Amino acid sequence: MTVKSISSRIDWVGAIDRDRRLFDELIPLPNGTSYNSYLVKGDNANALIDTVDPSKKETLFDNLRQSGIEKLDYVIVNHGEQDHSGTLPTLIEKYPECKIVTNQKARDILTDHLTLEDVKFKIIDDGDQLDLGGVKLEFGLIPWVHWPDTQYTHAIEEEVLFTCDFLGHHYATDQLFLNDECELEDSAKRYYAEIMMPFNSRARKNLEKIQEIENEIEIIAPSHGPLHENPENILDYYEEWTSKKLKNKVLIPYVSMHGSTEILVEHLTNALIERDIEAKPYHITKTDIGDIAKELVDSGTIVIGSSTVLGGAHPKALYIAYLANGLGAKANYASIIGSYGWGTKIVDQIADTISSLKLELIEPKIIKGKPNQKDLKLIEEMADKIQEKHRKDPDINSN
Ligand code: FEO
Repeated sequence: MTVKSISSRIDWVGAIDRDRRLFDELIPLPNGTSYNSYLVKGDNANALIDTVDPSKKETLFDNLRQSGIEKLDYVIVNHGEQDHSGTLPTLIEKYPECKIVTNQKARDILTDHLTLEDVKFKIIDDGDQLDLGGVKLEFGLIPWVHWPDTQYTHAIEEEVLFTCDFLGHHYATDQLFLNDECELEDSAKRYYAEIMMPFNSRARKNLEKIQEIENEIEIIAPSHGPLHENPENILDYYEEWTSKKLKNKVLIPYVSMHGSTEILVEHLTNALIERDIEAKPYHITKTDIGDIAKELVDSGTIVIGSSTVLGGAHPKALYIAYLANGLGAKANYASIIGSYGWGTKIVDQIADTISSLKLELIEPKIIKGKPNQKDLKLIEEMADKIQEKHRKDPDINSN
């Protein structure tokens, strides 16, 4: 995608990265991503909002050339992570008159992580404005979505809000806007789970801050993925995802070496469905972890299934427990099912790994060898217990 006009004063000048499949060497990107960079053209000055990942810097410079500007007065840094700031050193070489406009926290991060010599900073605070002539930019601090430095930039007269990572998603497309609502929900929810959910209470506060100016915004322009031409859609999703509300749903990530744990998982899945509870089993070794992360946003209960390896939980099951703990899974209940041959520490290890989560552990069911009818009865008892907990829990909609 080359330069795209958002309004008479704002161009998209970023880069699409269709081939990227991993972020932070951790997060799968099934749909690639984009690094959105925006050029705001005032009567007196031009400002670039965020740069792009250094791997795509030539695309940004080509787009700036194509947009026809002769000078760049400001580069607004909404967040210091390198996928948005990494091209700054080269940008400043090309446009030496350009001043970096950002908050103090982001400035500290930039100087820690980049080689920036002979650069001029303009440090802004919450509510400060920068007048470009015909268009004013107002800045709002929205820390911890997901680093401590994030700010938004509001192009007031154009009614466009630039939120950097916040309200974005990893999705590569030539379209400025994504019209498929299902695709948007799926992609944005996965992104929220992986990047914003660990800071859920801060995300909620920042959402409220943006909701206060919602009537002044026509377009939300994040720094990853398509823009939102109906801001209420993404704001409504965040309203739901950042709330305490949970679904009458059980996420069951599991790993089964010889089929015994899988028998337990299948039996639990069927027992939950019979009790009108949504069951979501995922074989960990065959699943994109983003799909599991997405379920952590609103599952009332998580049941981790594991075989025994070297006397303890399977490392893949422990990895999912670690992920759930780190991402701050919102579930109110958890349990563990699995099998062993002659001894196991599955329960201790998994329970210890999710110990930061504020949830109630429902009695685990660990069985020896292949499950028999008595073992399967224990699984049905677990389904009964989950049903009882969900019905009594005000956070869970079990009607
Ligand atoms: Fe897209 Fe936190 O960088």
